[in-house]
Amino acid sequence: MSESVSSDPILVASGIHKKYRMGSEEILILQGLSMTLAEGEILAVVGASGVGKSTLLHILGLLDTPDQGTVTFRGEDLFALPPKQRAERRNRVFGFIFQFYHLIPELTALENVLLPSMIGPGFLAWRRVRRERREKALGILGDLGLSHRLKHRPAQLSGGERQRVAIGRALMNDPAVLLCDEPTGNLDPVTRVGVQEALWGLNRRRGQTILVVTHDERMAAEAHRVARMDHGALVEESTGGASA
Ligand SMILES: Nc1ncnc2c1ncn2[C@@H]1O[C@H](COP(=O)(O)OP(=O)(O)O)[C@@H](O)[C@H]1O
Ligand SMILES: [Mg+2]
Repeated sequence: MSESVSSDPILVASGIHKKYRMGSEEILILQGLSMTLAEGEILAVVGASGVGKSTLLHILGLLDTPDQGTVTFRGEDLFALPPKQRAERRNRVFGFIFQFYHLIPELTALENVLLPSMIGPGFLAWRRVRRERREKALGILGDLGLSHRLKHRPAQLSGGERQRVAIGRALMNDPAVLLCDEPTGNLDPVTRVGVQEALWGLNRRRGQTILVVTHDERMAAEAHRVARMDHGALVEESTGGASA
């Protein structure tokens, strides 16, 4: 395990239950799942399609609610917070990266990255911080090797470039935890390496804590830790090789 991984938990899920109702049938997805994410670590979550990996990610990132159980961030019980504060934590604490990028097609790469920082401040506040935010977005896109693609729209970008724009967008609010749902699932093997390198570089350079759901064997092998989801719970699999 790399030296930058501390033993302090940053995110802890405890006794998470989640079921969906389909007509008269109840489908149990998460059944008392518990997990701990340490500050500065890369945890890979693997498991068969449909076991509930995305459901877990959505609950951890406050996009969905558990039926039972708690999620604490640096000791704070997130689901005990009133809705407004919970929404604030969602925006400030978590960055999301999805398999299919979810970029806005009408916006350029730079505008897509700027978007999250425009949510929240009113128009006047945005005018005040616009220049600084733009500088930040340019810096992030530069670090991701996208300085030559600022004015391209998603349709004019390769899959790997699109995903790196999505990573840039996720970084704008300096998330404490990056939640990635099969970030290389839609990419060819060569492009995958570039996206993984972008994520791992964030961990190396700034100690970014990352939880990544993946079917990508290389990614899982190079994470600090691997946990497999099975029957609604997570089982620690192995300590990966962390290419840090
Ligand atoms: N909103 C929903 N309503 C009903 N069933 C759902 C809903 N979301 C997910 N499911 C079901 O829950 C199971 C787990 O889904 P998901 O978390 O997406 O799995 P994974 O990401 O591991 O492939 C699947 O069987 C899926 O069909
Ligand atoms: Mg999924």
